[in-house]
Amino acid sequence: MSSLHVTRTLPEDATDAALRADVRDGLTVTPKTLPPKWFYDARGSELFDKITELPEYYPTRAEREILLARAAEIAAASRARTLVELGSGSSEKTRFLLDALTDLHTYVPVDVSESALVQAGQALVEERPDIDVHALIADFTARLTLPDTPGPRLVAFLGGTIGNLLPAERAEFLASVRGLLSPGDALLLGTDLVKDEEVLVRAYDDAAGVTAEFNKNVLAVVNRELGADFDPDAFEHVALWDAGNEWIEMRLRSRTAQTVKIPAVDLAVEFAAGEELRTEVSAKFRKEGISAELAAAGLTLTDWWTDPQNRFALSLSTVREH
Ligand code: SAH
Ligand code: TRP
Repeated sequence: MSSLHVTRTLPEDATDAALRADVRDGLTVTPKTLPPKWFYDARGSELFDKITELPEYYPTRAEREILLARAAEIAAASRARTLVELGSGSSEKTRFLLDALTDLHTYVPVDVSESALVQAGQALVEERPDIDVHALIADFTARLTLPDTPGPRLVAFLGGTIGNLLPAERAEFLASVRGLLSPGDALLLGTDLVKDEEVLVRAYDDAAGVTAEFNKNVLAVVNRELGADFDPDAFEHVALWDAGNEWIEMRLRSRTAQTVKIPAVDLAVEFAAGEELRTEVSAKFRKEGISAELAAAGLTLTDWWTDPQNRFALSLSTVREH
């Protein structure tokens, strides 16, 4: 017998309060910024799924290739009875793991997008009546309380989403993941790798304009939730490679000088012509760098797998023994 439980650790009004704080903090400073989790309302999750199918967006396909090739090894190494997935979205690639983990008892997808979680969760309980699905509507950058389910535990963080955290946030995040693990548990981490600038930029600025629409979706969220009057057409999607930081930076550039009203926070935000709002970074990694970051969080990298074209890596880490 399987079942779908959905637990909300975010209060119903969390979106509003947290979004108001982020908008207040991010739009009253120079340069302006907004945190990336606000992309993902139902429309945003739908647009992200479209991104994963774009010819230019290689990370999803590369990671899927690795998962397909290595699922059995990952399963043998982890022997997980509980699989926790942070930022699970559609859980599409996760099916390779679910199929390979022969002793799996519970799958715990964690996401801020309720629509993505419920959709993925409902499909999964039908496909896999032998496992429990305990979906958690939660912010993975906050303190997570996981359901009490049998170990060993495998925590998966796929899609290169770790790259959307800034270095200091990443350190804090990895330390909190370490806190979720006991000896015998493991972290499966997907990281996009540093590569040719042109390939990287195209993955975040596709010909069909889906990524531009996704980027602008954050404006639609602020309009709907906070009564703002952003005109998405008055902004241009920008994706550029920051070679020093080795990250792609996504911005929205104001086409003209304009004032945007955001009544819920009592703000009138001025944009100069050409002024840019940073909406996201997507850091790209090298093995030595990520291995050091894991080590700093008390984790030891035990396996490193890439796709044949060396575009993307999956790594497995365990709790460091003293
Ligand atoms: N893992 C999927 C989806 C990646 S997109 C894949 O590899 O294709 C990033 C996902 O993380 C989205 O589903 C988004 O809703 C979720 N997300 C982003 N920020 C989050 C946060 N702070 N807490 C929880 N989920 C978050
Ligand atoms: N985790 C994804 C990534 O960094 C998120 C993403 C893909 C994204 N395309 C985007 C975020 C465009 C903002 C804009 O690859």
